[in-house]
Amino acid sequence: MTTMSETLANKEDNDTSCLVLVDEEGPYIPLDGLPDFRLTPWRPGDVDDVVDIFNRPEVEKWAVFRDIPYTPASAHTDFFTHIPTHRAYLTQLISSLPYPPPSLPPDTKRKFIFGAVRQHSTGRLVGVVSLGESSHQPGNWEVSYQLNPDFHRRGIGKGMIVSAVKFASWLGVKRVLAFCEKANPASSGALRSAGFKQFMEVDIPLPEHLGGKVRPVLFFEHVVE
Ligand SMILES: CC(C)(COP(=O)(O)OP(=O)(O)OC[C@H]1O[C@@H](n2cnc3c(N)ncnc32)[C@H](O)[C@@H]1OP(=O)(O)O)[C@@H](O)C(=O)NCCC(=O)NCCS
Repeated sequence: MTTMSETLANKEDNDTSCLVLVDEEGPYIPLDGLPDFRLTPWRPGDVDDVVDIFNRPEVEKWAVFRDIPYTPASAHTDFFTHIPTHRAYLTQLISSLPYPPPSLPPDTKRKFIFGAVRQHSTGRLVGVVSLGESSHQPGNWEVSYQLNPDFHRRGIGKGMIVSAVKFASWLGVKRVLAFCEKANPASSGALRSAGFKQFMEVDIPLPEHLGGKVRPVLFFEHVVE
C-alpha cells in the first residue's frame, strides 16, 4: 500500500513514465499488481540470498557468465563492490525526482541500482535483475533476471522485467535486448509476457565449462517508439 510519505515520481501511464517511490526504507520501484514485491537497491546483507538463488539447480542450469558454484566471494565481486557507486547515483536520482537524473547510471557491468528484487514483508531478496548497456550491442541496453524457484509462476518474473524496462524508458533508453536459450520456456515466456518481441534465433556455442555444445539462443527486443 502506498503511504503518505511516499513520493510518486510520475503518474503518467505510458512507457516513459517512472514509478520511483521513496519511503522510510529508501527508493524503490513497485511491481504492478504485486504489492509485496519491489525492485530495490542492494544491501550488504543480501549476500546469502544471492548465493542461494544462483546455486539453485533450476537457476544455475541457465548460467553462462557467472561462477559455478557461486560463492560469497563471487557475490562480492559481482554486486557488492558496486554499492558505493550505486549509492552516489541514487542520491542524484532522488534529488532530481520527479524527473530523471541528468546523467545515465555509471557503468557497473549491468549491476542495476534497483537490481535486488525484494519481498517487502520479510525484507528477503527473492530475485535479481541486471540492467545496463549491452556488451553485445553497444548503444542498446540489456536485461537479464533470476528468481528464487520458491517464487516461480506467480507473475514476479514478468513484473520485475516490466519494471526494469519502465525504468530504462524513463531514462530515455529506446531499445532493451534480452537473450535466452530456446530450451528455456520460462525465460522466453516471461519476456513475451513483458512485451518483448523475438527478432532472431542463432546457434551459439556455449563455454567449455558448460559442455561447449552449440545451442539455439533466442534474441528479444523491447522498443519504445
Ligand atoms: C525466467 C523466470 C524469471 C520467470 O519467472 P516467473 O515468475 O516464474 O515467471 P512468471 O510467473 O512471471 O511467468 C511469465 C510467463 O511465462 C510463463 N512461464 C513461466 N514459467 C514457465 C515454464 N516453466 N514453462 C512455460 N511457461 C512458463 C507463464 O505462464 C507466464 O506466461 P503468461 O503471462 O502468458 O501467463 C524464472 O523462471 C527464473 O528465474 N528461471 C531461472 C533463471 C533463468 O532462466 N533466467 C533467465 C536466463 S536467460
